[in-house]
Amino acid sequence: MLVTLEGIDGSGKTTVWEALREARGDGFTFTREPTDSWYGDAVRRSIGEDGADPLAELFLYTADHADHLSRVIEPALDAGDVVISDRYSDSRYAYQGVALDGVVDRPMEYVRGVHQPWTRPPDVTLFFDVDPETGAARAGATNKFEQVEFLSRVRENYEQLAEYEPERFVRIDATQSPEEVLADAENVLDRLLAE
Ligand code: TYD
Repeated sequence: MLVTLEGIDGSGKTTVWEALREARGDGFTFTREPTDSWYGDAVRRSIGEDGADPLAELFLYTADHADHLSRVIEPALDAGDVVISDRYSDSRYAYQGVALDGVVDRPMEYVRGVHQPWTRPPDVTLFFDVDPETGAARAGATNKFEQVEFLSRVRENYEQLAEYEPERFVRIDATQSPEEVLADAENVLDRLLAE
């Protein structure tokens, strides 16, 4: 089973991912995008550049995802592990769906189309939902992706994705305290594993 954690910056999903990783041992693989490979390094370098070309950036993220799939995700799933990824393909659909506005027509559909022939869709996606003001404030608005206006459009894209696939997305109220958010995520995960 492949479980992904998604949400705008400052939604607290990384905190939950870290707590889950502490608590769950054998049979779980914890991973994230951008990854810690050199592809991921290239992505992080691009995130830090204000003038980065958004199309070039899409394909850096996508290269990182392709490598992540073949090197980490697929072997772990083949070994029977539950894989929990902090960000995954929906981050591209939601974020680059905004960043590519004005560069390509229907950007979110374009980015989904680029992935569709070869990606491995998640089985379940925990969507950590928080308003963009709170998200930006928590994230400290340190990079170009962390501004309120940008994040509110990213959140709309996540909403759209959840509407397309309501059975895959489980919404978690990420305005709650970190303890409550974690407890909700644990409950959802336990329920899924019991099924
Ligand atoms: P992340 O490492 O999750 O952020 P943080 O620094 O808060 O831990 O992701 C870094 C940024 O990259 C974040 O603003 C979201 C953005 N991003 C995309 O735009 N597209 C993607 O495909 C991914 C994986 C991340």
